[in-house]
Amino acid sequence: MSRQVIQCANIFFSPTGTTRKIVRHVAAGLALPPRELDMTLPTAREQKIFLEREELALLAFPVYGGRLPKIALEIFNQLPNGRRPALALVVYGNRAYEDALLELFDLCVQKGYFLVGAAAFIGEHSYSHVMGQNRPDPADEEAAHQFGLSARHCLLTGDKVLSDKSLLAEAHRPYRKYSAKRPISPDTSRKCVGCLLCVKSCPVAAFVDNNPRQVDQAKCILCAACVKLCPEKAKSFNDDDFTDDMAVMAAANLDRKEPVIHLP
Ligand SMILES: Cc1cc2nc3c(=O)[nH]c(=O)nc-3n(C[C@H](O)[C@H](O)[C@H](O)COP(=O)(O)O)c2cc1C
Repeated sequence: MSRQVIQCANIFFSPTGTTRKIVRHVAAGLALPPRELDMTLPTAREQKIFLEREELALLAFPVYGGRLPKIALEIFNQLPNGRRPALALVVYGNRAYEDALLELFDLCVQKGYFLVGAAAFIGEHSYSHVMGQNRPDPADEEAAHQFGLSARHCLLTGDKVLSDKSLLAEAHRPYRKYSAKRPISPDTSRKCVGCLLCVKSCPVAAFVDNNPRQVDQAKCILCAACVKLCPEKAKSFNDDDFTDDMAVMAAANLDRKEPVIHLP
């Protein structure tokens, strides 16, 4: 039995841009007319998301602490309920994705969506230039494209649906707990030229009065968008404990991890 699917809504959150890259390659493999719904900026999350009846929902998030970023719940609250096909994607920084993909699978199922595929890809770590350095790279892009092609095949030629069985081989419910948020926020050096790119790309509008030098620590989710996107390299997390912990984590995760793909 084939399913009629007319287009694909690419719904994602991607502060440092690696999730967005993977989404676009998967979407190219799916070869359905795409609608890009980038939920990274706060204004994008203000309104309900409308999906056509025969629209595939491609949902993609980075991994934060082995889970989805909490903002994923905010985005799911804006999505319509109802039976429709979905693809679940997480992108992680070459450490581990732990319960994040299972959590995304569960959120989709709670909405009434059925999964025609789920996958974990690797992107350069938000806090590092050595963990997952320069990823996604051409091999990742090819894997993402192939995943899109395979999902298209499942979608159009079969009636099989992905169960949580294969995901549960590597993840658990209840999901791991979020670790305590570090009491830090990005600092700004004298290299800042006031271009405001950081202010404009902050997913939680954490800059006080649009001042690039003043971050509301309570709002900041430590996504590192401002650190990675600053053309002057004027932003950094200047905290010794944080720097030491990241160095230890990087040293333990220099091995190349590969994408993991689940199909029905
Ligand atoms: C707060 C936070 C927590 C993170 N936790 C993890 C993690 O548990 N495992 C991992 O491998 N990478 C982790 N990362 C790295 C991101 O998952 C990774 O860099 C991803 O590619 C970022 O996606 P983006 O470019 O779409 O923002 C974390 C990043 C941040 C900002």
